[in-house]
Amino acid sequence: MAAPREKTDGTPAGSEIRPIKHRRDTASSDGQVAAATGHTVVLVDQTDDILKKSAKSIEDSLKRVTKKMFADKPEAASQFITKTLSNFSTSTDPAAVVHSTDLVVEAIIENLEVKRELFKRLDKFAPEHTIFASNTSSLAITDIANSTTRQDRFGGLHFFNPVPMMKLMEVIKTPMTSQTTFDSLMDFSKALGKTPVSCKDTPGFIVNRLLVPYLMESVRLHERGHASKEDIDVAMKLGAGYPMGPFELLDYVGLDTSKYIMDGWYQMEPENPLFAPCELLNKLVAEKKLGKKTGEGFYKYR
Ligand SMILES: NC(=O)c1ccc[n+]([C@@H]2O[C@H](COP(=O)([O-])OP(=O)(O)OC[C@H]3O[C@@H](n4cnc5c(N)ncnc54)[C@H](O)[C@@H]3O)[C@@H](O)[C@H]2O)c1
Repeated sequence: MAAPREKTDGTPAGSEIRPIKHRRDTASSDGQVAAATGHTVVLVDQTDDILKKSAKSIEDSLKRVTKKMFADKPEAASQFITKTLSNFSTSTDPAAVVHSTDLVVEAIIENLEVKRELFKRLDKFAPEHTIFASNTSSLAITDIANSTTRQDRFGGLHFFNPVPMMKLMEVIKTPMTSQTTFDSLMDFSKALGKTPVSCKDTPGFIVNRLLVPYLMESVRLHERGHASKEDIDVAMKLGAGYPMGPFELLDYVGLDTSKYIMDGWYQMEPENPLFAPCELLNKLVAEKKLGKKTGEGFYKYR
């Protein structure tokens, strides 16, 4: 969970960054971009160990960003890194952090009850004006917002991985989100250097509603023995111009996160064939092969 506070300058986010080799949790990437654009960010996670790893991955990522941004100016690069890191701190205590936070961006596990539990708790400690946003990829923002007493100050901010590189932000307005809150979320997205699009609170919003069924259809094509995963990946990159093949993308996103999305949609619409459970995906998740983050998914990374 990243909790950005007041904007202090408009330094553009590292749009030049190359795709990171090992995907890290979404919250630390969101936090990196917010800190790099001059926001004060407190990254909250469950343990100091996880936070140490996140801080290290942010530093590594910033080094890569600045190598390109300031190719012949090592001093400017190191100043940018120092300034970004000075905007950034970590905590394992969300209740202690939220009392001085203007905006909470939640990016924890894709589970409705866990998200509701967190927001219900934060709602008690956050000041009146604080806006809550969820980065959920597939859950209804309304269902999460209903765990709080600030439905008018609650919306969706859906980032895309790798966050420093991807320009899009989906901004979600529920029927209860106030226009002021929505405008603040749009302004915040622009301040991060993103291009915001708005979408109603519908499952998967725009991108995932189109993308996830395509990813699952790729797995089913492979399961039927019609083509190898390698050939499907090559075909979609060279034939459709996609930067990653569907199996590479699934490994990058995380197979557990993809399964959470599919399970949720299947529960909602069990008769929809696009949302039917995917055996191979479920098998890999049961084997803890979650993609890049665990070193193996459809492919091996170790
Ligand atoms: N994976 C993607 O490409 C992607 C893209 C956009 C949005 N999202 C969304 O972001 C969220 C996180 O997805 P992810 O793939 O980064 O998951 P992840 O499992 O990689 O990371 C989740 C992080 O949340 C932490 N966490 C879990 N419960 C917590 C709690 N109660 N309090 C504080 N921290 C907690 C975990 O320790 C972990 O570091 C999901 O809602 C997902 O839909 C994911």
